[in-house]
Amino acid sequence: PTRVLTGITTSGTPHLGNYVGAIRPAIAASREPGVESYYFLADYHALIKVQDPARVQRSTLEIAASWLACGLEPDQVRFYRQSDIPETTELTWLLTCVAGKGILNRAHAYKAAVDRNREAGEDDDAGVTAGLFMYPVLMAADILLFNAHKVPVGRDQIQHIEMARDFAQRFNHLYGEHFVLPEVVIEEQVATLPGLDGRKMSKSYDNTIPLFAPRGELRKLIYSIVTDSRAPGEAKDADTSNVFQLYRAFASTGETSAMRQAFADGIAWGDAKAALFERIDAEVAPLREKYEALIAQPAQIEEILRAGAARLREERALPTLRALRDAVGLRN
Ligand code: TYM
Repeated sequence: PTRVLTGITTSGTPHLGNYVGAIRPAIAASREPGVESYYFLADYHALIKVQDPARVQRSTLEIAASWLACGLEPDQVRFYRQSDIPETTELTWLLTCVAGKGILNRAHAYKAAVDRNREAGEDDDAGVTAGLFMYPVLMAADILLFNAHKVPVGRDQIQHIEMARDFAQRFNHLYGEHFVLPEVVIEEQVATLPGLDGRKMSKSYDNTIPLFAPRGELRKLIYSIVTDSRAPGEAKDADTSNVFQLYRAFASTGETSAMRQAFADGIAWGDAKAALFERIDAEVAPLREKYEALIAQPAQIEEILRAGAARLREERALPTLRALRDAVGLRN
């Protein structure tokens, strides 16, 4: 079977970008024949950004409930919390020992931190943890531990998958063919969903629309999306509009071309936003109901996660680590 794997960091409330970039395509992929899916909550990754234990726990619950509400069937897929599979961290070390430091120097998140420091006249690495620097190695371990063939993600993660391929290649070169080289899968329509201010929708920019915001809040947030000041009746440029990009991520091809025409015909921003709100709400309202029911049952979610990890450890993680320990010369 083709193994498809993806994760979401448990550092906040899941948003529409996570939904269209990862959850929705991943669940669609899991229903295809011949696919074995691995979907997980990246809580080790969360510690790199969040040092508030309550927030990590709350986020884990919210993201797990979101996957389930969106139709993930825990019996049909491997669904787990990253830290319930401690072999992940052991593999991280094995990969650390083959990963080029120069490659990690070029990771976008790390480079951005260095650039910010330079601008502020600080030392390059001021305030940068080794965890941030190692982020791509931990992520490679997630992917390589289960030898995933395909990794559906948003565009911001492409570099990480490329690095995972690089580390896998180096390891294979030194120790024999242990790892499949993973391929990135990007849904072009929604490769980067914009947030309220037009930048990438991201927890770090504080411009997100929560996936399961109550209806009233969803409407308010959508009406707060930044637009240009073109008046009703003036033609509007669909291709540079975040309202249009959001609409396209939720609409059929037919609806999308009708909206493109409406933009050219000068639809008022208020009307475009009303249509966007209706479109998104139509898709998420039934899921929101399931989410509310699930989030009220944390013990049940916990049980699903534990069972998922226990099975996967036994079946895959432990045997894989045994083989890898052998390969590198550690005692088994
Ligand atoms: P994270 O938690 O930042 O985001 C989870 C997924 O959502 C996608 N995404 C977006 N897609 C489109 N438009 C957006 N505005 C947007 N914002 C987020 C991300 O691309 C991602 O697919 N490092 C990962 C988590 C991770 C992982 C992995 C993913 C850890 N290990 C192994 C795949 C495989 C992250 O922080 O994603």
